[in-house]
Amino acid sequence: MNNEEPRYFYGKFMHTPTRSAIEVLTDTLIEVAASGAITAITDHRHANFLSLLERARSSPNFHQFSTSQFLIPGLVDLHIHASQWPQLGKALHLPLQDWLMNCTFPLEARFADVDFASAVYQSLVQTLLANGTTSAVYFATIHPQATTRLAEICLEQGQRAWVGRVAMDDAQQCPDYYRDASTEAGLQQSEEQIHSIRAMTGNQSARVQPIITPRFIPSCSDEMLYGLGTLASQHQCHIQTHCSESDWEHQYVLDRCGQSDTHALQEFGLLTRRSVLAHSNFIGQSDMDTISSCGSGIAHCPLSNQYFADSVFPLRAALDKGLHVGLGTDISGGPSASMFDSCRAAISGSRMLEAGTNPDLAAAQRGVASSRINFIEAFYLGTVGGGVVLDEAIGKFEVGYQFDAMLIDSAARDSNLLYFADLDTDEDLFQKTLYAATRANIRAVWVGGQAVLPEANACH
Ligand code: GUN
Ligand code: FE
Repeated sequence: MNNEEPRYFYGKFMHTPTRSAIEVLTDTLIEVAASGAITAITDHRHANFLSLLERARSSPNFHQFSTSQFLIPGLVDLHIHASQWPQLGKALHLPLQDWLMNCTFPLEARFADVDFASAVYQSLVQTLLANGTTSAVYFATIHPQATTRLAEICLEQGQRAWVGRVAMDDAQQCPDYYRDASTEAGLQQSEEQIHSIRAMTGNQSARVQPIITPRFIPSCSDEMLYGLGTLASQHQCHIQTHCSESDWEHQYVLDRCGQSDTHALQEFGLLTRRSVLAHSNFIGQSDMDTISSCGSGIAHCPLSNQYFADSVFPLRAALDKGLHVGLGTDISGGPSASMFDSCRAAISGSRMLEAGTNPDLAAAQRGVASSRINFIEAFYLGTVGGGVVLDEAIGKFEVGYQFDAMLIDSAARDSNLLYFADLDTDEDLFQKTLYAATRANIRAVWVGGQAVLPEANACH
């Protein structure tokens, strides 16, 4: 592999360039520059196709795939608590506030130990890449050193990532053993974190970026929230936080701030074009108008919402408003490392919202009409939608977009994804992938054209 030369990928590609359509590119050659950007997409009907293919074949960076294999864009996970990885699949029976105090804060406090943090973060990033998550937006913990380790590990393993040191200074809502030493100290550490991530050796192309991370309004003082808004603007940073997630949290903010999360966040300077608002389950019309006018995005976390939200995110209403929406796992509020599960839960949640749940009501009164999304919209949200939220050219195969992709093999060993040539169209295969693909089917993953799965898994 020559790193300065273009790379060539030849085979079948499927993606959702719009919310309403799958595009299948068969017998197609994609050229990727050393920068990771797609520079040409040429299909077999092009006049010069054979000569272009001939030239590509002579490159040491030429990849060709077998007939059971095809490429789809890598998934964009907009909301992950990296430090909650050891807790995946645990403690899901508790209400949010008890879960934080009794399980989550004690676990996160352990990341003062950088060796512990390194081991957890290595395992997490490797697992997410193996599940096809090429872009990841992470909450780390309050600890600067461990947060820097997470950023280094993403860079070493090649994942596109946004890594945030969690700011939380409120003495009532955060325990003594897990809280910023003071507002000033927290702000200073958040500012230093921006510099340390941007200055990492090997990060010239900003594959890993800092992100300003107030945990949520309840855990931060007003001074902290204003201060972080100022930092984000001074340093042109992305921002992430939780927004109107559960009844308790939503009401807490109404009581303290006299307004909803959305409006309060705007006042603190935390709603920008590059803000990622996790959940946003309780947003009303005026919240949506504000989010829309700021160009901020929502990380819809449908699996986590089943356990902690007390409600269902109004996805269709948000999409109809034109809000930027992508998907997140919310590890470990959501108990899956696979963004395919987030896509699946987004679909099933929207179907239940539409159908409603109370059989004593007449069908027409039971649910919220026209709420359902289909598998094409779900995949769009998990790829292009996430890219739009982050303001990055990722999520589809298009010239100028980064080549972030995974190779799906329907003939892989231990596959639950079964392809019947005489029954299944390409669109069927795409739908089956969304519903039935597992890690076993993901045979290779690229970020910016660079292979990021361990050699043992990669195809040739
Ligand atoms: N709100 C504040 N912290 C958290 C967290 O870690 N997970 C979730 N789901 N909600 C939160
Ligand atoms: Fe969360």
